[in-house]
Amino acid sequence: MRLVNVPLGHRSYVIKVGSGLLPRLGAECAALKLGHRCAVITDAKVGAKYAAAAAKTLAASGFEPVLVTVPAGEKSKRVAMVEQCYDRLAAHRLERKSFIVALGGGVVGDLAGFVAATYLRGIPFVQVPTTLLAQVDSSVGGKTGVNLKAGKNLVGAFYQPRLVLCDLDTLRTLPRREYVSGLAEVIKYGIIYDAVLFAQLERSLPKLLERDPATLMAVVARCCEIKAEVVGQDETESGLRAILNFGHTIGHAIENSSGYGKFLHGEAISIGQIAAARLSQQILGLASGEVTRIGKLFARAGLPVKFKPAAARRKKLFAAMLLDKKVSGGEVKFVLAEKIGRVKFGCKVPAELIAEVLSLP
Ligand SMILES: NC(=O)c1ccc[n+]([C@@H]2O[C@H](COP(=O)([O-])OP(=O)(O)OC[C@H]3O[C@@H](n4cnc5c(N)ncnc54)[C@H](O)[C@@H]3O)[C@@H](O)[C@H]2O)c1
Ligand SMILES: [Zn+2]
Repeated sequence: MRLVNVPLGHRSYVIKVGSGLLPRLGAECAALKLGHRCAVITDAKVGAKYAAAAAKTLAASGFEPVLVTVPAGEKSKRVAMVEQCYDRLAAHRLERKSFIVALGGGVVGDLAGFVAATYLRGIPFVQVPTTLLAQVDSSVGGKTGVNLKAGKNLVGAFYQPRLVLCDLDTLRTLPRREYVSGLAEVIKYGIIYDAVLFAQLERSLPKLLERDPATLMAVVARCCEIKAEVVGQDETESGLRAILNFGHTIGHAIENSSGYGKFLHGEAISIGQIAAARLSQQILGLASGEVTRIGKLFARAGLPVKFKPAAARRKKLFAAMLLDKKVSGGEVKFVLAEKIGRVKFGCKVPAELIAEVLSLP
């Protein structure tokens, strides 16, 4: 098992990464000295596989868990679902010392985290992320929240868990497309922060694609460490945390302009990161050999690397990009790479150049 410390003063906590951690959930919660009533919030797909194991380990450690299951998918990240969760917690008489376990991917983590942040003005919560994306990204950093009709993540809170348990065994049942999509965030950490990690990914990609436990442990732990380091320096996104958005300006625009469900998040940011690498070459002089390495790694992972939208779609994409939060005065602000392992944020990029890099073969 690997431990990653998230240094946030009195709200610091530990991320544990390894195999066989879910069966230890009860003992881990007991060590945190939490009240004995608790709720396990999960989604229908994850619950079918892992809720019984979670309930069993919690009961064995003397806790009284109630299971709250929401439908799988992004649609569960909404205010109405938050209210349904509150009602279940109240019916089960959860009190200030009670706690919530978020068992699932980023959807469950964001929803359950927000419920924990606000129920009784905040009760403790423990994350058990079960997707690769949730393990390396959404469970680290304390962003919780739900969507509104007007847009994603418009309601939320910064609220840190008391513990994160990344049980690598749970990744075995993740559909391949979801797993590969998570790899796009993994590769991102190499590009933005750690050239050694990037080179390691180039070497061990076949093992990673097989979900080899030892490789996964090293890689997931390193990604958590990087995100923890970045968030530790900038918890509320006033500066440095922006580097985590590498590839996301174009990526989000692709997601938003392509219609719900066409691209998974990781697929869209794969294309976004390749475009950002090309912009980096033009604007910051990123070496062409490094642009090639970046493109190759995404391709080898099985992520989409090409995006040739028809004219109408392209228009929509640019409109989506200009609506993005990071736009000021017609120029879109990007995170760009000087070299693999080092990026700069707040780089202004003229719209024509974006069109140019997107139409490259
Ligand atoms: N809070 C943050 O900092 C942050 C960061 C990145 C993304 N997010 C959010 O995360 C969400 C996406 O998360 P996600 O990609 O994990 O999606 P998700 O939670 O919807 O999970 C993807 C699918 O995989 C299924 N699944 C999950 N674990 C499984 C397992 N072990 N075996 C089999 N199936 C499993 C789920 O039921 C779902 O159908 C988005 O809402 C996004 O906004 C939040
Ligand atoms: Zn992302």
